Amino acid sequence: HRARIEFDPRFTVAEVPDRLFGSFVEHLGRCVYTGIYEPEHPTANADGLREDVLDLIRELGPTMIRYPGGNFVSGYRWEDGVGPKEDRPRRLDLAWGTTETNQFGLGEFMKFCRTVDVEPNMAVNLGTRGLQEALDLFEYANHPGGTYWSDLRRSHGDEEPYGIKLWCLGNEMDGPWQIGQRTATEYGRIADQTARSLRFIDGSDDLDLVACGSSSRGMPFFGAWENEVLTHTYESVDYISAHAYYHPLDGDVTSFMASAQDMELFIDGVIATADAVGAKLKSDKKINISFDEWNVWYQTAPTGERPEPWSIAPRQLEDHYSAMDAVVFGSLLITLLRRSDRVTAACLAQLVNVIAPIMTEPGGPAWRQTTFFPFAEASKYGRGTVLNVNADSPAFDTKKYGEVSALHSVAVAGEDGSVTVFAVNRDLETPMTLEIDASSVQVGDVTVSTLTDADRDAKNTVDDQDRVAPVANGDVVVKDGLITVELPAMSWNTIRIA
Ligand code: AHR
Repeated sequence: HRARIEFDPRFTVAEVPDRLFGSFVEHLGRCVYTGIYEPEHPTANADGLREDVLDLIRELGPTMIRYPGGNFVSGYRWEDGVGPKEDRPRRLDLAWGTTETNQFGLGEFMKFCRTVDVEPNMAVNLGTRGLQEALDLFEYANHPGGTYWSDLRRSHGDEEPYGIKLWCLGNEMDGPWQIGQRTATEYGRIADQTARSLRFIDGSDDLDLVACGSSSRGMPFFGAWENEVLTHTYESVDYISAHAYYHPLDGDVTSFMASAQDMELFIDGVIATADAVGAKLKSDKKINISFDEWNVWYQTAPTGERPEPWSIAPRQLEDHYSAMDAVVFGSLLITLLRRSDRVTAACLAQLVNVIAPIMTEPGGPAWRQTTFFPFAEASKYGRGTVLNVNADSPAFDTKKYGEVSALHSVAVAGEDGSVTVFAVNRDLETPMTLEIDASSVQVGDVTVSTLTDADRDAKNTVDDQDRVAPVANGDVVVKDGLITVELPAMSWNTIRIA
């Protein structure tokens, strides 16, 4: 198998948006409790945050974190999570069938964001609650002082307003599983009212508001939902959300390897719909996508023990990712980068323990899942400008998407003159020789790191934490601006041209 790509730094797609490397912390399972927050843990700092996890988060490199859900937010009373911890009530969480202790809330989340230097992305509850509570929350968070809610925040020890710029108007409001599911018209109206009213408080131009799009491309009203919601909100919001999770269906791992095809079609569909609404409204404005939940998620697999009803922070959605999952995950990241002209925010769902790149044991260690590595490398090296890439690749056959190219790649030019090519060989069986025509740039050092495994099911576990990791790939030849690299079957590769 031979593939070839070429690029030219003069021909670009978009600047890589900072928010593309977002992640997500939901009050779900052990993402918060015994994930990022565990005051009894030997590494816990004065805020109860686990330093071992904070170190891994810094290494992972998220730029923004969405909070507090997810399905959880649609039943959440944000006031429960502020003020003295001993006064905070315990509540039933109907989204996940657990008891929420509220020992972690908005103030703790903001401390966490400052500690790991990420932008907060806050969701409001438009399920059981509505406009007034969203306004109260916004006033508590962002108003400087001199009013009931802002002074309450100050009395809780946070003198300065949080200055949260990015807000999600509810979560997956189209889903029958959502507490307070709404029709597109009902949701479009309340999202518009909320958006306009938040802007009454804020007054500045730099508030970014996200309306809920479809929970997946497979939803029965996909397209119609976006059309109706945006017809109501086009001038009051900035983003429409998209969510997508992938896993092999009926053991069809070949189609699974090509999951990014679905993500591409999803993005095409949302953009076409948003632009059509804009055209009908004769608006010059463009609505971009916040892909604020994406990942591999084995939704049909048993995810550990069924939690005891109403238990506290049980093990839920604790997927253990394989080498194959990491390669598919990397391919999804490549799509997000390739489409970053219109996908200008995205969140890997989620951050710790719950379908996450980082795992922990209560009182015990924290370690990197296989999916940790593509994200960390993309966040570290995928900064700058996405380039147009022309590619010629062998194809393979999939049941779900027909013929798909085996090579999936993107090139990002850094400000320092370097170019990084992220390349996935999606073929499970056949290695590939990739030729990169880099004659348009100065080729100095070329380094390649490759993640693959002879056992596609290999995973990192608490007992074998470093089983799968990227290794230096020495199969590289550089000659007259042509770089030739051997890409193993089923591999994620980061090729740095400095
Ligand atoms: O990320 C897990 C769940 O997936 C989120 O709570 C929800 O928004 C989605 O269905």
